[in-house]
Amino acid sequence: MSATGSGARVTGMMAAMATAREPAAGWTVELDTTPGRRQAQEEFLLRHPDGETERITLHDYARVYSVPGLYEDVVQRRLECASPATVAEALVEAAGEHGVEGLRAFDLGAGNGVVGEELRDRGVTVVAGADGVPEAREAAHRDRPGLYAHYLVGERLDVEEVTRLVRDEELTALVAAGAVGAGHVPVDALAQLWDAFPPGSYLALTLAAGEQDHDVTDVEGMLAATADTAHPSRTVVRRRFRHRVSMAGTELFYLVLVAVKE
Ligand SMILES: C[S@@+](CC[C@H](N)C(=O)[O-])C[C@H]1O[C@@H](n2cnc3c(N)ncnc32)[C@H](O)[C@@H]1O
Repeated sequence: MSATGSGARVTGMMAAMATAREPAAGWTVELDTTPGRRQAQEEFLLRHPDGETERITLHDYARVYSVPGLYEDVVQRRLECASPATVAEALVEAAGEHGVEGLRAFDLGAGNGVVGEELRDRGVTVVAGADGVPEAREAAHRDRPGLYAHYLVGERLDVEEVTRLVRDEELTALVAAGAVGAGHVPVDALAQLWDAFPPGSYLALTLAAGEQDHDVTDVEGMLAATADTAHPSRTVVRRRFRHRVSMAGTELFYLVLVAVKE
C-alpha cells in the first residue's frame, strides 16, 4: 500500500488537517502490513522526494511529527483514527447534558494538535497542551499556530506548574486521546494532574480496551479511589468505539470515558 504526500491523492488528509499547514510535497508512505504486530511495533516506510527511504516506527512520535502532514496522513487518514473526534464529542455531550458551557481544556499528550482542533471546532476553549517530546510542541505551533497558549513538554509534568496553570487559566477539562496508559502517560501521573483540577471539571480520555490492555482497569481504579474524598469523580460516559485500524487491517477498539469531579 502506498500513498503520496502531494497533489490530488491526499484530498482526504487535507480535509482532515483543516487549518493545518499543507504536507511537504513529494514523500510517499508504505505501511508495513505484517499481521500480529502490537501498536508499539507498527512501522512504515517513508520514501523521500529524492528516492531515499526511511523506516519509521509509528510510536516514534518525535520523528513522525517532524515531517509536516505525516501524522495526519498515516494515523488520521490511512488508519482512520477516530479518537480525537470521539473524545471531543463525548466531552461536549457530557457537559451539554449538565448544562455546562465554556469548558477550558488542557490537552495531555496533545501531539501536533489534532485533538485540540476537534475540541475547538466544538466550542471548547483550548488553552494548554502538553506532550512528552519537544517535537510535538514544535509541530503544534507549526501546524496549528495559536491553538495552544501554553504547551508544556515532559514525560512527567511538574505538578506544581500544572496546578498554577489550572488555577491561573481557570481550566475545567483534562483531555487525553490515546495518550494514557502503557507506553504513554502513566496512570499515577494522570491522577496527580487530575487532582489539580477544581470540582466541576471534566476528565475525557480514550483508552486501549483490547484483551491484553489494562489501561481501563487502571484508570477506573484511579477514579474509584476518589470515592471517599470530598470531591469524588463520577463516570458519565463510558463507551467502546473503533479507535482505528491496524496497519494489517485489524479493527482496534478503545473506550471513551468521561468523568466529572463532584
Ligand atoms: C497516539 S499519540 C496521540 C496524539 C494526540 N492525542 C492525537 O490523538 O492526535 C500519543 C501522544 O502521547 C504522547 N506521550 C507519550 N507519553 C507521554 C507522556 N509521558 N507525557 C506526555 N505525553 C506523552 C506522545 O508523544 C504522543 O504525542
